[in-house]
Amino acid sequence: MSNFPQLRLRRLRRTEGLRALFRETHVDISDLIYPLFVVEGSQTKEEIASMPGIFRYSVDLLPKEAEEIAKLGLPAVILFGIPQYKDEFGSGAYHSEGVIQKAIKVIKGAVPELVVVTDVCLCEYTSHGHCGVVVNGYVDNDKTLELLAKTAVSQAQAGADMVAPSDMMDGRVKAIRQSLDKNGFHLVPIMSYAAKYASAFYGPFREAAQSTPQFGDRRSYQMDPPNWRDALREVEQDIAEGADIIMVKPALAYLDVIRKVRDIFHHPLAAYNVSGEFAMVKAAAQRGWIDEPRVVLEILTAIKRAGADVIITYHAKEAARWLS
Ligand code: PBG
Repeated sequence: MSNFPQLRLRRLRRTEGLRALFRETHVDISDLIYPLFVVEGSQTKEEIASMPGIFRYSVDLLPKEAEEIAKLGLPAVILFGIPQYKDEFGSGAYHSEGVIQKAIKVIKGAVPELVVVTDVCLCEYTSHGHCGVVVNGYVDNDKTLELLAKTAVSQAQAGADMVAPSDMMDGRVKAIRQSLDKNGFHLVPIMSYAAKYASAFYGPFREAAQSTPQFGDRRSYQMDPPNWRDALREVEQDIAEGADIIMVKPALAYLDVIRKVRDIFHHPLAAYNVSGEFAMVKAAAQRGWIDEPRVVLEILTAIKRAGADVIITYHAKEAARWLS
């Protein structure tokens, strides 16, 4: 039995004032984390072909960029480094004068209030492009843990506010927590890429970070896209190991996973609106096929509506302008 015409849902949609009053989800500038790619060298600002408007910066250009980011009201950046040399063990990731360690110091020196998050992974630093140590063609879990922990500690020593392991090794959160604590960094939080899928949406990032695996793929450590129960187990595991914030990645094709994690766990939840999601929007916008600001804000709102507290997104700077 219909309750129409007593009930008319359109009543609350009639004016922008009414819509604003009853809007259920809001995206704030303070929800957004902006990714930054850092290279060695100086006076370098190279645009990434498949990510229009996103650049690789040399360390000397970071203060200016960090100031601009902070001025827009964005609270945080997440750093990805491209080292000069790569080797089998990704030693550039945990070198005290590595590209990321220098970047952290420079950004914290220029804009101390900007939260600096660091990606903890070896793939940008290994010659084979895998996220860990390769033994007989297989990424060895336990040998990798020690290097990830070293990486996190060296980032904390350089001044990182938070570390974000993205490698998908089992036990990495525990190993990193123990090493951080042992070295006096018990106040440095861990944001773990808990449910990270083996996704084709990372394509443009791999160009940006020069981190494409030289053989095989990441399916023996990143998650199988059809699985959602596996995601809950990953999240459960990372929480048990001491993760402070958990992440689902990618975001758009995995909104159901974000929602499930939000419903089941109480930890702060991050979502990564990844490079391929960004590239698709940019490509369509450049052709005039979509209204970019509206599409971007709709996407970010959807990710929040699914349950994310914070969003890592390449759209952050532009979104901050559109939101203010
Ligand atoms: C490193 C890492 C990747 C991304 C974030 N950290 C690439 C990968 O796992 O291949 C992807 C981010 C993006 O696509 O925007 N492991």
